[in-house]
Amino acid sequence: MAMIANKCSDATVTVVDLNENRIADWNSDKLPVYEPGLLEIVQSSRGKNLFFSSDVKKNVRDAEVIFISVNTPTKEYGSGAGQAADLRYVESCARMIAEVGGGNKIVVEKSTVPVRTAQMVEEILSASGNEFTYQIISNPEFLAEGTAMADLENPDRVLIGGESTPEGQDAVQKIVNLYATWVDLEKIITTNLWSSELSKLTANAFLAQRISSINAISALCEETGANVDEVARAIGSDSRIGHKFLKSSVGFGGSCFQKDILNLSYLCRHFGLPEVAHYWDQVVIMNDFQKERFVQRILNKMFNTVSGKKIAVLGYAFKKDTNDYRESPAIAVCKRLLEEKALIRLYDPQVSEGAIRESLQMEEGNHFDSFTFYDSIEDACHESNAIALLTEWEEFKDLDFQRIYQSMKKPAYIFDGRNLLNLRELEKIGFRAFGIGKA
Ligand code: UDX
Repeated sequence: MAMIANKCSDATVTVVDLNENRIADWNSDKLPVYEPGLLEIVQSSRGKNLFFSSDVKKNVRDAEVIFISVNTPTKEYGSGAGQAADLRYVESCARMIAEVGGGNKIVVEKSTVPVRTAQMVEEILSASGNEFTYQIISNPEFLAEGTAMADLENPDRVLIGGESTPEGQDAVQKIVNLYATWVDLEKIITTNLWSSELSKLTANAFLAQRISSINAISALCEETGANVDEVARAIGSDSRIGHKFLKSSVGFGGSCFQKDILNLSYLCRHFGLPEVAHYWDQVVIMNDFQKERFVQRILNKMFNTVSGKKIAVLGYAFKKDTNDYRESPAIAVCKRLLEEKALIRLYDPQVSEGAIRESLQMEEGNHFDSFTFYDSIEDACHESNAIALLTEWEEFKDLDFQRIYQSMKKPAYIFDGRNLLNLRELEKIGFRAFGIGKA
């Protein structure tokens, strides 16, 4: 929304949230999310044509275009638990829009939703009994965290789905015009509602599938002496395959991939396609396998036990340049290491100690004292038996590993879960160094 405000000076954009503290944060210079470049974009428009308000109903009533941008987490209860998307926030937005009414509206699904969600929104809006007209548009967001500003400014494509009626096409055109202020028209794709909804889940499923595919190959590389980075380079040179999203890692994380695949496979089952569901399930199964494999490798190399050993974990965010740790592979890895009675010494430049302890469900008695958070990498590594690198933060590339090695217990191990480091150089220093997909 900040980018729309920044690019479309004629539009007035008001971001609304019932949570007053969150709105206060958006109105301050300590934004609720860390995203490089976001603060500058917000500051450039805030108070001019970009506003943040907790007066939800008034702003929704006055708006011509409403973007529904709420969470659609995996459902944790009842039917579809652990798989289906929990649409209660989307539904409550639709109900609120129906309740406040007010003139002609374009209601845009920005949240990632299962295909045919627009039908639910339509049923709620049409039952409102309020005097207002509306069109529903699907406009999924494809930005990635950490590069969100560049992705928004120069997207590969903008997808806009709408009804084929004249009113529907009119609404599509209005949203096209909004983006056309800064995005080339040939990058703006228009489709029907269902194709647009389904494309978002499909894009994430394909991206995650590439990572699981290369991670599956990494397991074979470790057994055979092949090097997964070399294999990725070799296959990526085929222009039909391409180089992107072939970086083998300890596993993919983030708020989208797993959630969207689970949701996609739930939809497949719902529509009577269990084989298709099973196909996509494998992407998540392989990702879980990769995280567990990483832990097993640590155990195997360290004489089958890490009990009482100090492991410096570098990185907790699900990728670099974000403080987001949702579904981060670090969560599963740390939980398993704690189960194995390791002592974790963790450093991450952006994720806070409180957030980490909460995500590891640490309370007194539950591994509480087995975990220490450090503000300095060198302190985290000091007297550790091993380093496990779990996020590809740039600062990890140029560490003084010679000094770090000297401060560690011997033999000193390093497990690079992101294939970020030069293992041969580390071995020259004296480390027992292991990457992903390298024998
Ligand atoms: C993703 C999609 O890229 C984006 O289009 C969508 O809108 C939201 O979901 P995001 O989750 O922010 O974005 O991050 P992304 O860069 O896709 O990375 C996801 C995970 O995959 C991270 O844990 C990352 O480290 C991992 N990854 C990515 C790999 O392990 N290897 C790769 O080659 C690429």
